[in-house]
Amino acid sequence: MNDFVYEYPVKVYFGAGSASKAISEELAQYGPNVLLAYGGGSIRKTGIYDEITGLLRAAGKNITEFSGIMSNPTYAKVQEGAELARKNHIDFILAVGGGSVIDCCKIVAAQARMEGDIWEAQYGRGEIPEQMLPTGAVVTAFGTGAEMNNGAVITNEERLMKAPLAGAYHSFAVLDPEYTMSMPEKQVISGAFDTLSHCMETYFGTPREDNVSDEINEAIMRNVIRNIRRTLKEPGNEHIRSELIWDAAMAENGILKLGKTTDFQCHMLEHQLGAYTNCNHGQGLAVIHPVLYRHICKDAPEQFARFAENVFRIDPEGKTVEETARAGIEALADFIREIGLPGSFREMNIGADTDFRAVADTTMLTGGCCRRLTADELYEILRECI
Ligand code: NZQ
Ligand code: ZN
Repeated sequence: MNDFVYEYPVKVYFGAGSASKAISEELAQYGPNVLLAYGGGSIRKTGIYDEITGLLRAAGKNITEFSGIMSNPTYAKVQEGAELARKNHIDFILAVGGGSVIDCCKIVAAQARMEGDIWEAQYGRGEIPEQMLPTGAVVTAFGTGAEMNNGAVITNEERLMKAPLAGAYHSFAVLDPEYTMSMPEKQVISGAFDTLSHCMETYFGTPREDNVSDEINEAIMRNVIRNIRRTLKEPGNEHIRSELIWDAAMAENGILKLGKTTDFQCHMLEHQLGAYTNCNHGQGLAVIHPVLYRHICKDAPEQFARFAENVFRIDPEGKTVEETARAGIEALADFIREIGLPGSFREMNIGADTDFRAVADTTMLTGGCCRRLTADELYEILRECI
């Protein structure tokens, strides 16, 4: 294990009625002006909007709305939110939605308290914001685990970059399974696959020998796989949903990352593909993961074989370590097909005419995986995904 210091700032309210509990217990300590942030309107259809605004009014808050936060939130939308927050003297930001709304608000919270441009500060001068408006998150679409960390993935359309920025930790997160039951099946599956991806990106980091963080991780991965299969058969089952929601949170609350250097190369590549295509995050990951792993598994066969045996229950009997490792990656690819996720960019309507060279050349290279990939190899991987 690498050395670490662990402290966790997000208070979690899990289960039915959590929004009411969280808002009454948490919001009293802040001033009256609340920025209520949400997406394209699903919360109005589901009744969550009425419930949350009712709770805020009952708590004596004035509500300023920040709506229309799109999937893959843009930097321009962040600036709009920061402007609204400043103009309306906002005391607290409440994000109600999926990863996109939750991420956007982390950066709005920081940008609202900053003079200059937060992108320039972080990528130009390496400065991480210190002053931030307090925020809270009510999860309506699970999978990203965005409610549990302070990283936000923002699409900067001018710079053609989809990249992480560091912003505010939400001071609390509401995880009420009932709020997610209206998610379309496609989003449930791509979100849950995103959780599995976060687990794998952590697992395939270093150190590579067996360790407690990886063993907890294996349990989470098995749970995600089992419950994706179950939710496809019983989409209305709230127990299954609650398992998947907590899996998503566990993948991003830092526990699995303790003592590890994570990889996240697949994520960096998918994010940059998103900058060029605005594709769905979980679907993009589903296409890239097996292809990328076929490229690197020979560089860490024991680690991939352990994954094969402990996550997909591949029998190593009669196989070399390399064969077991490969069988695990093929089991992952089969699972992706089985649950209806795409196996190629074509199935996601990403055309062969996409500028994959530019995507590869602008992707951040990570250092945690068994081999540092080059831009040329990322380009090859993208071409193999078509
Ligand atoms: O916008 P509305 O109308 O609310 O509709 C949303 C959106 O169309 C809909 N939705 C949300 N809750 C619903 C619902 N529909 C019906 N019923 C509900 N209860 O779902 C759609 C997708 O929402 P979105 O927030 O975009 O999805 P997701 O949660 O997958 O978030 C994706 C974003 O998170 C980033 C991704 O890159 C992407 O930008 N990620 C953030 C991470 C983080 N901060 O830790 C980690 C991830 O790796 C990821 O990169
Ligand atoms: Zn992800």
